[in-house]
Amino acid sequence: MSRTLQAAPTAGFSRILALGGARGAGSTPNEDLVAPIDSSDEWIRRRTGIVTRRRAPRDEHVEDLAERAGRRAVEAAGIDPADIDVVIAATVSWMQPTPAMAPIVAARIGASPSAAAYDINAGCAGYCYGIGQADAMIRAGAARHVLVIGAEKLSDYADPTDRTISFIIADGAGAAVVGPADQPGIGPTVWGSDGSHADVITMTHTWLDVKHAEAGSPVPWPTARQQGPSVYRWAIAQMPKVARQAIDAAGLDPSDIDVFIPHQANLRIIEELGARIGMRDDVVVAQDIVDTGNTSAASVPLAAERLLREGTARAGQLALQFGFGAGLAYAAQVVRLPEAVSAAAGEE
Ligand SMILES: CC(C)(COP(=O)(O)OP(=O)(O)OC[C@H]1O[C@@H](n2cnc3c(N)ncnc32)[C@H](O)[C@@H]1OP(=O)(O)O)[C@@H](O)C(=O)NCCC(=O)NCCS
Repeated sequence: MSRTLQAAPTAGFSRILALGGARGAGSTPNEDLVAPIDSSDEWIRRRTGIVTRRRAPRDEHVEDLAERAGRRAVEAAGIDPADIDVVIAATVSWMQPTPAMAPIVAARIGASPSAAAYDINAGCAGYCYGIGQADAMIRAGAARHVLVIGAEKLSDYADPTDRTISFIIADGAGAAVVGPADQPGIGPTVWGSDGSHADVITMTHTWLDVKHAEAGSPVPWPTARQQGPSVYRWAIAQMPKVARQAIDAAGLDPSDIDVFIPHQANLRIIEELGARIGMRDDVVVAQDIVDTGNTSAASVPLAAERLLREGTARAGQLALQFGFGAGLAYAAQVVRLPEAVSAAAGEE
């Protein structure tokens, strides 16, 4: 007798249940960085909005930040860590190709001993990629509680003499517990990439360059670089379209958006994108960039947890969130903000 192949039963909707964050323990103001790049506090504030950025000391690692943010999100969600059945870690700054960071963090926080755990590298879009995956997994019946963590220690990739990106980057982690829901809490994810322009945000060298360096002329530690004006123009041209597609796919209009949480790359970009999307004048705009800096995959969840923790945004509001960056990867979705947020990041 032939049997019929069964698919996993699909399961309703998903929503973000809780958020948590952790920022690098130190704060590095503009003044500390300007001398080797012939810049000034005034230039950096005017061109990027950044006043200071959070940086982790040498003995605080990216997995420590990820663990702290993840633990806080799970505690705020009020669920047993053992009920987390998938851990997704979005990062560009985990320093070893294998094993991945996510299984290590899953074990540290006490996730289900059989939790699936894996890293994704989608640059500054990584967290929003992860939220899209978590939503799809839960609705498809492949998972019940997914912990999505964006975590970076970007200061390891900073070159104090680089004028293009090093003065922007920072360290931190933000995490979301995504779980089942009766009503939609996460709208469709609009995502993509354009690898034909992968050179506009990249590294000075690859590990193979280091390996194959000529004897007597070692290749220096690889650090990050960007073609800032090209990235700026691309973000301004591309992201308003992507944002409107995500709003449309969620069955909404820009005027329905209460809270705007874009990748925290540059305050000028944030303001220009906001104006081009056409949201209401009273939309709450995340500005965590000003004193946290650019934490790549961690920037959207850190900005979100702060808005909720400080009461600038409220549970139940509709937030447009998106990330964009290296690989020219991008992802956007509309989410309903959760009721639970860890207070702990406010004490750091
Ligand atoms: C990096 C960035 C802040 C540079 O700002 P910008 O306004 O584009 O600056 P430009 O590169 O056009 O340079 C303008 C002037 O400032 C100077 N300059 C560039 N970097 C400088 C720095 N760090 N400090 C002081 N002056 C600087 C340039 O030499 C140039 O001088 P000139 O007018 O005399 O020729 C900006 O391009 C940016 O934020 N880009 C997008 C970043 C982003 O979104 N990344 C996404 C993923 S992380």
